[in-house]
Amino acid sequence: MSTMFTEHSKIHPVPERLLHAKKVAPKPHIDSFEAYQKMYKKSITDPEAFWGKSARELLHWHKPFETVVSGGFDYGDIAWFPEGELNASYNCVDRHALANPDKVAIIYEGNEPGNNRTITYGELLRDVSRLANALKSYGLRKGDTVAIYMPMVPEAIIAFLACARLGVVHSVVFAGFSAEALRDRIQDASSKLVITADEGRRGEKTIRIKKIVDEALKECPTVEHVLVYKRTGSDVPFKAPRDLWWHDEIEKHRPYCPPEIINSEDALFLLYTSGSTGKPKGILHTIAGYLLGAMITFKYVFDYHEGDVFGCMADIGWITGHTYIVYGPLCFGGTTVVFESTPIYPTPSRYWEVVAKHKITQFYTAPTAIRLLRRLGRHHVEGYDLSSLRVIGSVGEPINPEAWEWYNEVVGKGNCAVVDTYWQTETGSIVISPLPGAIPTKPGSATVPFFGVDPVILDPVTGEELHGNGVEGVLAFKQPWPSMAKTVYNNHHRYLDTYLKPYKGYYFTGDGVSRDGDGYYWILGRVDDVINASGHRLSTAEIESALVAHDGVAEAAVIGVAHDITGQEVHAFVTLKPRGESTEIKELILQVQKGIGTFAAPKKIYIVPDLPKTRSGKIMRRVLRKVVAGESDQLGDLSTLSDPSIISTLLDKVNE
Ligand code: WT7
Repeated sequence: MSTMFTEHSKIHPVPERLLHAKKVAPKPHIDSFEAYQKMYKKSITDPEAFWGKSARELLHWHKPFETVVSGGFDYGDIAWFPEGELNASYNCVDRHALANPDKVAIIYEGNEPGNNRTITYGELLRDVSRLANALKSYGLRKGDTVAIYMPMVPEAIIAFLACARLGVVHSVVFAGFSAEALRDRIQDASSKLVITADEGRRGEKTIRIKKIVDEALKECPTVEHVLVYKRTGSDVPFKAPRDLWWHDEIEKHRPYCPPEIINSEDALFLLYTSGSTGKPKGILHTIAGYLLGAMITFKYVFDYHEGDVFGCMADIGWITGHTYIVYGPLCFGGTTVVFESTPIYPTPSRYWEVVAKHKITQFYTAPTAIRLLRRLGRHHVEGYDLSSLRVIGSVGEPINPEAWEWYNEVVGKGNCAVVDTYWQTETGSIVISPLPGAIPTKPGSATVPFFGVDPVILDPVTGEELHGNGVEGVLAFKQPWPSMAKTVYNNHHRYLDTYLKPYKGYYFTGDGVSRDGDGYYWILGRVDDVINASGHRLSTAEIESALVAHDGVAEAAVIGVAHDITGQEVHAFVTLKPRGESTEIKELILQVQKGIGTFAAPKKIYIVPDLPKTRSGKIMRRVLRKVVAGESDQLGDLSTLSDPSIISTLLDKVNE
């Protein structure tokens, strides 16, 4: 944990344009700090009234609910709107297709500039229906799980919604994960179908998606079919009758499929995420609470108004894509952008070209991209008409004040609300963030809690609540909120152990935090063994077990090291078995790419004769972190280190 950000406390008032909005921009939904405070207070003191009203206003119910919320943190048996029945795909598609069939739902911006396509709500309803009917024809029913391993094409969204239409649970696996990682996720969820593509294109790269799926499926007996969307049209291996072509299949089916009417608390999707231990967890979100969280945060945090074009640059393989590319914007009948490329392809102006071309009103990306573009220079931004922008957002890790200021000035021209949004896969939607038009911002602070979210700062050791301002500890939440994850798939005890038991009576986030003199929250980063590299959440234990899976490796210790652009990067220390002495570093990197994916590969691997351990054999990662950071004069208490001579060996290795 570090408090470096809290020292920077320049306050940015709400931009003039938002305050005096009328002709230039719509009036923000919440237009003063007092209005925020009033509504926030209501949401905390009477959550049932607040969420009951919001749920009735924002969602379409096929059967109304009676109870707003039941259960609690003790057993993790929380249920929102338990008698209610609805359908997520009806909420995202039908109600808008009925009212406004020609409105654009999806703008696809392909990898190659100029490769664009739009899909209206009317078309979306037909596309989702055809695919849902196809899924039905394979025998898929409510509660079955389907793996989606897709590039960033609109068909990925169609796949989400076709599953949701039937109550089939989607489990999206980011298409950068390796065959082994995909296999583990398919096995854990017992998925019956994989929806995928021939290949993906991202920048200069081609990703051989279908080949990776075939590799994964060697050990996935539950999978009956693989549905393959043609993205590039290259020749790919195809195994009939298991494999089916998307375009052949959807042609067979009727372009209307009645939505299944499903209970609020039935599962909508699984999304695997990394934690402190080796195995990824299948985070389970249920229909009504998740959709409500996605919608209400979309409305207030991004100040969504009819006619807006929402541009979230994340991948649909992560929670940001689920909530703010798919469910939030579509539930509102908004227009969402599916961006297939990278911020620097074919040039570092790509984002701004896309903003200008589609007149994007809200733009959402990660600090790592902002830092990269800042380093490449503001001339890549200049010359593009970014005047459509009102809100620019950041997510994934703490944003350093320099990057925040650059984003505000160079991209936002000092005239947009900058929203640094804090949340997690498990929270389902944004939980701490400024609201445009209401909350003055401080660069580096996620500012204030969203409605219904009751943050507390706990002493990490005693678990006592630290009251008042000017305190630092671990971040927890005191009340359930609708979009919180409800369990870990087939592993409820792990859900309890990870989130609800560490501090009894609270949901524990795993993040360190401070609250400054004005009551603003500053997220300080993970307090567990999770590394955040380029906004990717990586588990040290998972990378270590990938390394140890190599024949030549005896032991491995992985640490996160500060990096200017990516926030953190992965470094690994490895000891070899006597018979593994000839093991080369590049084999070890390959091992992690194989076990998890290229994005998790260590940037540096040090082969060392021994690791620093306590006398009881616990690896002292703290020592490794200090050695790499060049702070070997601050190693702290070494009295438990079993072999002190190891320090100089490590220093020599790192400084080689
Ligand atoms: C972890 C969750 C939620 C979408 C992307 C990441 C870190 C996320 C912020 C922020 C500081 C942030 C936290 C959190 N994080 N947003 N605005 N400021 N830290 O989702 O992969 O589930 O990771 O990302 O450490 O616990 P995720």
